[in-house]
Amino acid sequence: MRSGINTFLDGYLPDDNVRIRERTVFEEVERTKKAKGKVLASFGEMSRKAGDFELSVAKGEIFENEVLGILGANALGKTTFAKMLAEGHASLSKKAVISYKPQYIETDYQGSVRGILQGVAESDDFPALVRQLDAERLMEKSVRNLSGGELQRIAILLCLAKKADVYLLDEPSAYLDVDQRLAAAKAIRGRTAMVIDHDLLFLSYISDRAMVFTGEPGKYGEAEVLGLREGFNKFLREVGVTFRRDEESKRPRANKTDSVKDREQKESGEYFYS
Ligand SMILES: Nc1ncnc2c1ncn2[C@@H]1O[C@H](COP(=O)(O)OP(=O)(O)OP(=O)(O)O)[C@@H](O)[C@H]1O
Ligand SMILES: [Mg+2]
Repeated sequence: MRSGINTFLDGYLPDDNVRIRERTVFEEVERTKKAKGKVLASFGEMSRKAGDFELSVAKGEIFENEVLGILGANALGKTTFAKMLAEGHASLSKKAVISYKPQYIETDYQGSVRGILQGVAESDDFPALVRQLDAERLMEKSVRNLSGGELQRIAILLCLAKKADVYLLDEPSAYLDVDQRLAAAKAIRGRTAMVIDHDLLFLSYISDRAMVFTGEPGKYGEAEVLGLREGFNKFLREVGVTFRRDEESKRPRANKTDSVKDREQKESGEYFYS
């Protein structure tokens, strides 16, 4: 399995001397140890009951040009939290304008991609985003016929091209292939954003800090904002999984439970390689 995945990522079949695709590289992220910038917006402690589910979120803030990665298992209230912010029920202070991409993209728009993007086509970021998200060739397609990954890219484009203080994206990596995930990550990085996702590689690639949801799925969820390392460790300790970096492709790989590396990392508390 390992050599199959690495061969795919490398894009080259040595036995046949054939290139099958462009090589995918997981670069190490240069995380500039920037001094904490200015607080762009903050939210107070909040709670919400939805059916049998109860969510409570500790107060937190978001710094300018920081990406807050939001992680946690299914049904712990991540989407509920995002909706509360997007709908203004739990407003960010300072009246920050939020551009929101929901987890489920529903549209009954009958026209073309070019048509649905009309409102944002004049924005300064638009041409670069079209290039980054490989959207030019989708322009004349009908929105209703887009594939899952195509629709996701257009939804991300629509969200990021809007002028806003905070970009709030719920599961932008869903339906995207590995290269498109890396492209989406690059489009998000450098903005002030809150990003919910289940792809740890994707999140580790874009995040400056982490917001972690814990609790009992469907019953209750609790969340707090932490440093990146602290946040990833908390999440992974919760699910009992450790990650190392694959030497060849540099991608994060889950360690086999109880393997030497798994035990070593659990002992030292370093669940995610650093
Ligand atoms: N309007 C509602 N009425 C009843 N229950 C709700 C409502 N909205 C959400 N829930 C419940 O709240 C819990 C949290 O849902 P939420 O969508 O916030 O989870 P999530 O963390 O985003 O999960 P996932 O990772 O699967 O997207 C779930 O058990 C869900 O069924
Ligand atoms: Mg969700």
